[in-house]
Amino acid sequence: MSETQFSNSVTLRDNRNGATYDFPILDGTMGPSVIDISNFYKDTGMFTLDRGYTSTAMCKSSITYIDGEKGELMHRGYDIAWLAKNKRYLDVVYLLLNKKLPSKEEYNAFLYELKTRSFINEKILKLFDAFPDRAHPMAVLQACIATLSAYYSKDMSFDDPGEYMEMAKRLVAKMPTLAAFYYRHSKGYPIIYPDLARGFTENFLYMMRSFPHSHVDLKPIEVKALDSVLMLHADHEQNASTTTVRTVGSTHAHPYACISAGIGALWGHAHGGANESVIRQLEMIGTPENVDKYIAKAKDKSDPFRLMGFGHRVYKNYDPRAKVLKGLRNQLIEEIGIDTNLIRVANRLEEIVLNDEYFVSRNLYPNVDFNSGLILKALGIPTEMFAVIFVMGRSPGWMAQWIELKEQESIKIVRPRQLYIGPERINE
Ligand code: CMC
Repeated sequence: MSETQFSNSVTLRDNRNGATYDFPILDGTMGPSVIDISNFYKDTGMFTLDRGYTSTAMCKSSITYIDGEKGELMHRGYDIAWLAKNKRYLDVVYLLLNKKLPSKEEYNAFLYELKTRSFINEKILKLFDAFPDRAHPMAVLQACIATLSAYYSKDMSFDDPGEYMEMAKRLVAKMPTLAAFYYRHSKGYPIIYPDLARGFTENFLYMMRSFPHSHVDLKPIEVKALDSVLMLHADHEQNASTTTVRTVGSTHAHPYACISAGIGALWGHAHGGANESVIRQLEMIGTPENVDKYIAKAKDKSDPFRLMGFGHRVYKNYDPRAKVLKGLRNQLIEEIGIDTNLIRVANRLEEIVLNDEYFVSRNLYPNVDFNSGLILKALGIPTEMFAVIFVMGRSPGWMAQWIELKEQESIKIVRPRQLYIGPERINE
């Protein structure tokens, strides 16, 4: 029997032999405490099993806080609903990277720094030709970001703290250019270069939609809607893609190699690919009369069908990001019009989910992707570009998390273990 060594601890009793083990409890500033099991294997000779990390904290972080039960999200202490109402996307990018909101002067200087970094080495455009027609833009973007690591590794050390911010600014600035350039290339349209007279978010829509002879005339609500979508995706603590970025970062890989890996993780429809799947599913359902049939499929345990845009690993309440986007969606409907049949199907789905016992008892609410897909559709963004928009929004969050990882006293390589269930040694 071991004696308690910690002021706050949990004791584990092994019922096979009565041995007890103490593990310290660590408290954060908000949220559940954690049991520090770093010495678990050393002390007990066993591992813990937690498929999908449902009960595992993978790091200490001071960037983003989520209370999933209450449906709250904060970046560096600022509530997302407040940020969405009072600030712009670049304020939040600045906040994530600099740990404080910018003053007006700092904002303008930051915007200028991003603008001057928004161009890309044009050799990268040749990559586009290597992809088959109609390649998914996420495949291309992942390759482009991995390629950026080759352009920015000789002249600077990515282990130099002085260069972390430079890495971050460059990535955030170039991401919309790469995304828009590939879209134009895939359509055979002339490439439109960033216009330094335009704001960050406006520039992306300008590059996507303009032609050399006719520059797009953007309505303020369109820029505001996309800006909010980007802001609401800026960071979301240790989700699958961020955990991927940190995992690759723990091997001391190049930051853009980490981000490229994160893009791969985000692409799946259980994560960032959901916004694309939401629209495809709404189109498949077609009319409000068909909704009941698909609700029945979603509830049928023998059917793998799931309602895209509903449910979340952390939120067991209305996703606060979805709440903000719902308001914007309604504003967009009024000001520019949206495919009303899609909206009618979406409204019917949401109404049922919020009242049906199956969904209520499992705390399944609309998530961020439910409304972001509808907004992006209204903005004329092609459906296959939706996950790319998620990546654009998330880039500063990934870089902030990567910087936080690098700034730790020491980095521990991520190396989980397993419960082996294969054959025992075969002696021939
Ligand atoms: N439709 C129908 N049933 C669902 C859904 C859904 N969308 N989501 C969860 N459930 C059920 C699931 O079948 C399970 O039921 P039971 O307890 O009877 O087995 C229960 O709810 C718990 O589900 P889970 O899969 O154990 O929960 P999870 O935390 O592992 O998965 C999720 C979370 C987001 C992957 C899942 O809710 C899902 O697949 N949703 C649809 C895809 C989606 O919208 N993804 C975007 C997430 S938000 C963007 C982001 O942050 O990446």
